[in-house]
Amino acid sequence: MVRSSRSAPAVLVTGAASGIGRAVALQLAESQHRLALLDRDQAGLHAVGEQAREVGAAQVVTVPTEMADGAAVAAALETTATEFGTLGGLVSAAGILEPAGLTEVTLDSWNRHLDVNTTGVLHLLQQGAPRLRDGAAVVVVSSNAARVPRLGMLAYAASKAATSALTRCAGLELADRGIRCNVVEPGSTDTPMQRDLWPDTALGQAMAVAGDLASYRVGIPLGRLAQATDIAEMVCFLLSDAARHITLQQIFVDGGASL
Ligand SMILES: NC(=O)c1ccc[n+]([C@@H]2O[C@H](COP(=O)([O-])OP(=O)(O)OC[C@H]3O[C@@H](n4cnc5c(N)ncnc54)[C@H](O)[C@@H]3O)[C@@H](O)[C@H]2O)c1
Repeated sequence: MVRSSRSAPAVLVTGAASGIGRAVALQLAESQHRLALLDRDQAGLHAVGEQAREVGAAQVVTVPTEMADGAAVAAALETTATEFGTLGGLVSAAGILEPAGLTEVTLDSWNRHLDVNTTGVLHLLQQGAPRLRDGAAVVVVSSNAARVPRLGMLAYAASKAATSALTRCAGLELADRGIRCNVVEPGSTDTPMQRDLWPDTALGQAMAVAGDLASYRVGIPLGRLAQATDIAEMVCFLLSDAARHITLQQIFVDGGASL
């Protein structure tokens, strides 16, 4: 876990209103971090901000932000800099998934995936890097779909593959400042994004675990769906000094589903 003291570094988390980003924010809050929380869901962000304060965050700033809008991201980072000065960490968890395969994906949906999942991360890294202290850490939540082809996830997978690559290239450039950049690639994780894919929660969970060879999905060898906290544990490890010699990595956290 990241250091547990009132002097713990300030960390910015996107997608903080729900799912994995929320779990990261609350885990960092428990270790008394100062937090800048970004999301386009203003009400959800406010609720998570309150929870983060309750569980121990040293300071919380919530900044409603559309990640696909470069000017909005720049303004959010300006606000964050005013509150915190330099940042010790950046976590990107904002993302969208609109299921569609090759024949049905629309150009609008393709562009939305790239705008949010890929260009949104570019905005964050490009505008966030000058705000990071030397030795800071960046963690981008991508997906195991970046490396494992999935039916009905063409635009999503392509956007995530680009995101994983851009994060590692940025990390190579930032290494001379001691800034580490790593990618976490979750598999099926029990969040609103995943539940939206299932017509029925119990059935959806069972199928994700068991797999479906007709859809070329082998299932999850560890026999359970990830909780958002499982992914947050890896994100917080990569932010911490315990990971001080780890950079440019893409790490599956998927119970073995990418075998
Ligand atoms: N849940 C899974 O099974 C799974 C698997 C692999 C990867 N992921 C990735 O993990 C990340 C978090 O997903 P989740 O499962 O927690 O989903 P989620 O839908 O619960 O949370 C995503 C958050 O991102 C925010 N967001 C979406 N678009 C935004 C935008 N343009 N600007 C600002 N905020 C925006 C949403 O408002 C939401 O709060 C995503 O990048 C997703 O692709 C999720």
